[in-house]
Amino acid sequence: MPVDYAHPEEDRFFNFALELVKKAGRLVRDAFDQPSSNVQTKASNTDLVTETDQAVEAMLIKGLAAEFPEHKFIGEESVAGGQKIEYTNAPTWIIDPIDGTTNFVHRIPMVAICVGLAIKKELRAGIVYNPITNELFTAQVGRGAFKNGFPIKSSQTEVISKAVICASLGIHNMVTFGERWLEIALGNHKCQVLAGVRGHRSFGSAAINMAYVAQGCVDAYAEYGIHAWDIAAAAVIVKEAGGVVIDPLGSELNVMGRKVLCAGTRKLADELSGMLTHVDFEPEG
Ligand code: IPD
Ligand code: CA
Repeated sequence: MPVDYAHPEEDRFFNFALELVKKAGRLVRDAFDQPSSNVQTKASNTDLVTETDQAVEAMLIKGLAAEFPEHKFIGEESVAGGQKIEYTNAPTWIIDPIDGTTNFVHRIPMVAICVGLAIKKELRAGIVYNPITNELFTAQVGRGAFKNGFPIKSSQTEVISKAVICASLGIHNMVTFGERWLEIALGNHKCQVLAGVRGHRSFGSAAINMAYVAQGCVDAYAEYGIHAWDIAAAAVIVKEAGGVVIDPLGSELNVMGRKVLCAGTRKLADELSGMLTHVDFEPEG
């Protein structure tokens, strides 16, 4: 199979990041075993951050910046700290130090360190690592997707009536849309139930939801109000596993567009897209 290289050094970028993410995993695991960390809120009462989120992001960015001084970074906690999102053609690492911070705070073992790499605004590589369950998902464009080194494939399910779908109520969207959001989110659940969905799951981490679509145990996932760091790494993994990752309206994914729909097959993605009530966000970056 021809391999499409966006950059001759892409393998070096990926391998270096992978080793750093494994080290970061030890930080997260050690902190997870401690009784508590200092918890603060950010944009809303449900938007949490801990010292571990900040320490892991600082460690990843410091390590990558020292090795690749020309590279740029978009990190959840750096942005929360006031850094502007600048998405340029430069190799850009898109980082969520802990996706699933609420899980982390509540000691629910569904957390993921997410590191995605974009070059010329194209997502090229993704690493999603849950150091608690020891699930390491990786992918590079054209190379396939892997879990702990073994190839993974998304499901072949084409209809909602045979699907398990990841969905969350996305209560953070109340900040933007008020109670109207609850009606939309509950309506979106309802139409899937009426279409005969086998069940809904919500793992509390966008990246884990997507990694589970990639490995085929969940058939689809859609969410509004997410950010680039929640989905960039996992988007590469889903696509390389044979799945589709699109804007919920059916167009190409804009990683800065704050919404995502992914599925094992295009048919299932289209059926889900067609029944959702959509909301729009100002793109970031
Ligand atoms: C959140 C998780 C959650 C999703 C939110 C994200 P965080 O990320 O991915 O599943 O519903 O939209 O913000 O805050 O845990 O890094
Ligand atoms: Ca996140």
